[in-house]
Amino acid sequence: MSTSRSTQTMPAWRQQRYGEADTVTLESAPVPTPARGQVLLRLRATGLNNGDTRVMRGEPLLVRLAFGVRRPRQPVRGMDAAATVVAVGEGVTGVAVGDEVVGELPGGGLARYALAPAERLVRRPDSLDPVLAAALPVAGGTAWQALEKAGVAAAGTGDRPRVLVIGASGGVGTFAVQLAAQRGADVWALCGERNRTLVESLGAARTFDYRRVQPGAPELGDGAFDAVLDIAGTAPLRVLRRLVRDGGRVVLVSGEGGRALGPIGRLLRAALLSFGAKRPLVPLTARPRPDVLAELMALAAGGELHPVIARVAPFADAADALAEVAEGHVAGKVVVLAD
Ligand SMILES: NC(=O)c1ccc[n+]([C@@H]2O[C@H](COP(=O)([O-])OP(=O)(O)OC[C@H]3O[C@@H](n4cnc5c(N)ncnc54)[C@H](OP(=O)(O)O)[C@@H]3O)[C@@H](O)[C@H]2O)c1
Repeated sequence: MSTSRSTQTMPAWRQQRYGEADTVTLESAPVPTPARGQVLLRLRATGLNNGDTRVMRGEPLLVRLAFGVRRPRQPVRGMDAAATVVAVGEGVTGVAVGDEVVGELPGGGLARYALAPAERLVRRPDSLDPVLAAALPVAGGTAWQALEKAGVAAAGTGDRPRVLVIGASGGVGTFAVQLAAQRGADVWALCGERNRTLVESLGAARTFDYRRVQPGAPELGDGAFDAVLDIAGTAPLRVLRRLVRDGGRVVLVSGEGGRALGPIGRLLRAALLSFGAKRPLVPLTARPRPDVLAELMALAAGGELHPVIARVAPFADAADALAEVAEGHVAGKVVVLAD
């Protein structure tokens, strides 16, 4: 950084319009100044998510209501950050300059510096590598909240539930399998053939190739599960519902839909099908949960949770890394180094 705040610039991957990864280009941008309640972070590593690519494309169009109608209001993608605090705004307590932190940002992570609301940040344990830490917030937090909604509690608090994870090899799925197994669940999983060994190594007792065995296939059985986490979002709702026993739950983490409204139609149908039902379909909208992130980091630092890192990309390759995530076939996480 240069000395005068107004002339400080940094490299940042920015987009001026919605589109594919070729709309994201490396530019020089002003270093932002933290407002009240915010901190300025010097990034170390940024984990990418499917959500970054939805905002990048502005699809479904509904996301533009939240992120900018004509162009993304925040031009820099990247939500999951491991970073050093370099400045704090007014009213910030509990976080100080020099702290090593991790958190879910409202975007801005594919740059040298980014702003974050102070209350979203959690101290990174010294023993946890920044790359592993940056893989945790959105995907790990979503997996955790999905298990909460499914009623899959901590190990030793009841019978051994059988849980089906559909879409087990991606960012969310690789955490969901591990966390469910750790809670004592009998985990079954649908993933691509090439990822079955990986998913079994994470704790799944049985795996199936999703291109051959789909929800509704006899291998999975009717009413065979206490909970289903639908992370792939492609199976018909009536079929998903039949998978769980009476009193069981299907948590809808994802849902494919039209270009305009995305999963809205599916969610409305889920609400109708769940009215008074014994096998409800429960949508999940995960939110930033620093309390959960702290638990995830403690597990990862203790070697009880292993973020699956598909690729660590140098900063210069950030747009290629976004393109790879946008294709939807990453096993685990892609993390971009800040420099
Ligand atoms: N509700 C929420 O709050 C929330 C929060 C976070 C994420 N999400 C959503 O959750 C979904 C998953 O996110 P993610 O980060 O895990 O995505 P991801 O990492 O991009 O998932 C990629 C993986 O999904 C697998 N896959 C693709 N289609 C599949 C199918 N039909 N059945 C089984 N596996 C399939 C791919 O395997 P192959 O290569 O073998 O195809 C790949 O390994 C996204 O739609 C995301 O938007 C929702």
